[in-house]
Amino acid sequence: MHRRTFLTAGLATLAAGSQALAQMKMDDMNAMPGMDHSAHGMPAQPAKPAASLVLKEGEALRDLPRLANESTDAGLFRARLTAAPATARFAEGVETPVLAYNGMSPGPLIEAFEGDRIEIDFANGIPGEESTIHWHGMPVPADQDGNPMDPVASGANRRYAFDLPAGSAASYWFHPHPHGKTAEQVYRGLAGIFLVKPKADPVPAAYGETVLVFTDLRLAADGTIPENSMVDLMNGRVGDHVLVNGQKNPVLDVPLGAKRRFRLYNATNARFLKLSFGAATMTVIGTDGGLLEAPVAVDDILLTPAERLDVVVSFDKPGTIQLETLAYDRGWMGPGKPDDAGLALLTVNVSDTAGEAMPPLPEKLRAIAVLGNATINRRFVFTEKMGMGASGMEMGFFINDVAFDMKRVDITAKVGDVELWEVINKADMDHPFHVHGTQFQVIEHERDGKVTPPAYRAWKDTVNVAQGETVRLLLKQDLPGQRMYHCHILEHEQLGMMGIVDVTV
Ligand code: C2O
Ligand code: CU
Ligand code: CU
Repeated sequence: MHRRTFLTAGLATLAAGSQALAQMKMDDMNAMPGMDHSAHGMPAQPAKPAASLVLKEGEALRDLPRLANESTDAGLFRARLTAAPATARFAEGVETPVLAYNGMSPGPLIEAFEGDRIEIDFANGIPGEESTIHWHGMPVPADQDGNPMDPVASGANRRYAFDLPAGSAASYWFHPHPHGKTAEQVYRGLAGIFLVKPKADPVPAAYGETVLVFTDLRLAADGTIPENSMVDLMNGRVGDHVLVNGQKNPVLDVPLGAKRRFRLYNATNARFLKLSFGAATMTVIGTDGGLLEAPVAVDDILLTPAERLDVVVSFDKPGTIQLETLAYDRGWMGPGKPDDAGLALLTVNVSDTAGEAMPPLPEKLRAIAVLGNATINRRFVFTEKMGMGASGMEMGFFINDVAFDMKRVDITAKVGDVELWEVINKADMDHPFHVHGTQFQVIEHERDGKVTPPAYRAWKDTVNVAQGETVRLLLKQDLPGQRMYHCHILEHEQLGMMGIVDVTV
C-alpha cells in the first residue's frame, strides 16, 4: 500500500474506533525490542521543522476581518460560514494547504449584541469529512450547538439559529466538533471568534479592543501541515509556532501612557500559555463568560486550551514590550517535550511621546451572583490508562473509567438545578475541563490536601485541572438537551475524555 494512503487509513480507523484508544506510551514502546514504529502507520515523533521555512515576523498586527451582517433588520445577524480547503502563505514562497472559514484562518470574527437573533448558514465544503460548528461557551439550544451527534455531511448545508440572551456578553468562539475529526480540523485552521457585546460597556472605549487569538502551527519542510504523531495523540498536539491572529510575532505601536483592552483566546489544540507582558502592568477584567465584578491586577496569566481572558494593559514606559511565554509544567509523556518558555508572541512598541489621557478603569464592572446551594453532587475522575487493544498495548483517556461513546448518556440532569461538580485529575498531565451550554463558577481548588479559593469569582466554561488536582465548581443548565463535557486538549477529547449530560425539563 502506498505509504500516504496507509497513514490516512490508519488515522481513520483510529478515529472511528468505538472504544477510543490512543497509541502506546512512547516509553513503553521504546522498551520493546524489535518494535517497528512505522508499522503503526503514524510517525513516532513530530516532523522537525525545516530550517529553510522561516516565518515572517514583525508585520503590523492585523485586525481579524469581521463577518458582514447580510440582514438589514434591527436585532438580526444573518451570515454564511463555509468551511473548505484554502491555501495560506506562512513562509516565503511556500503554499500551505489549510482548512478555512470563508477562506480565512482564523475565521472571520462575528460581532453581535445581547438580545440579537443569530442565523448562520453553514456549508461544509470539506471533502469527505463531516463537520459542525460548535459555539463554544454560548448559551445556545442543544440542537443548535454543533454537537458530534449532529454532524453536517461533506457537501451539505444547515442553518444554526439562536437568540443571545440579556447578560450574555462575553468572549466566545466557534470551532468544528465532528466525532473523531475535531482535533484535526482545528489544527488545520478552523476556529473563529464570536464576540457578544453588551448594550452598555463599563470598560472605557478609549482603551480600544484588540482581539488576540493564539493558534498553533506545525509546518513540514514542503510547507504542508503534518498529521498527528503518537506523541501528539498522547500529549495533545504542540506545533512549532504560536501565531497571533495568524501572524508570527506581529508588532503593535502604542503611544506612551496608553491603556489597551486585549481579548486573549487560546484556540490551540494543546498549548498551555503562561503569559507575561513584561514591564507593562496587566489587569484581568474578564474571563470566558464575561466581565469580572472588579478588576484584578496580575503579574502573569495562565491561559490553557480554549480559555479566554479579557485584560487591560498599561504601557507606562517607552520602549519595546513583549508578550512572552513563561515556563509552565503541564506534564508530558514520552519524548519531544516542547521547550515553550521565552517565545515572543507579540511585540509592542511604546512611543516616547504621551498619547491622549486615559480614563481609569471603574472599580466595579458588574455584579456576579453566587450560584448557591447545590442539590446534586457529582464526581468526574480523569485517568489515563494502558490496556490491550486491537494492536497490542494501547493508551486511553477516561472520565470515570469509561471512554466517550456517542450512543451513551453518562449522566442526566434537570434544567435549573444547581449542581456541584468535583473534577478530580488522577492523571499525569493537566486537563482543561470544558462543559457545553452554560457557564460555571469555580469555588475551590484542592491539591495535596490544601484547599484554595479561586483568585476571583467569575463565569467560566473551561477550567484547567492540574495533575493531582481537584477542582470544585457550581453549574446550572438553563436549556434542555444533550451537552458534552470534555478535556479541551482536542486529542484527549478525541481519544475518549468526553461524556454526555442529558438535561431534561
Ligand atoms: Cu470548544 Cu466541546 O468544545
Ligand atoms: Cu464547547
Ligand atoms: Cu486532557
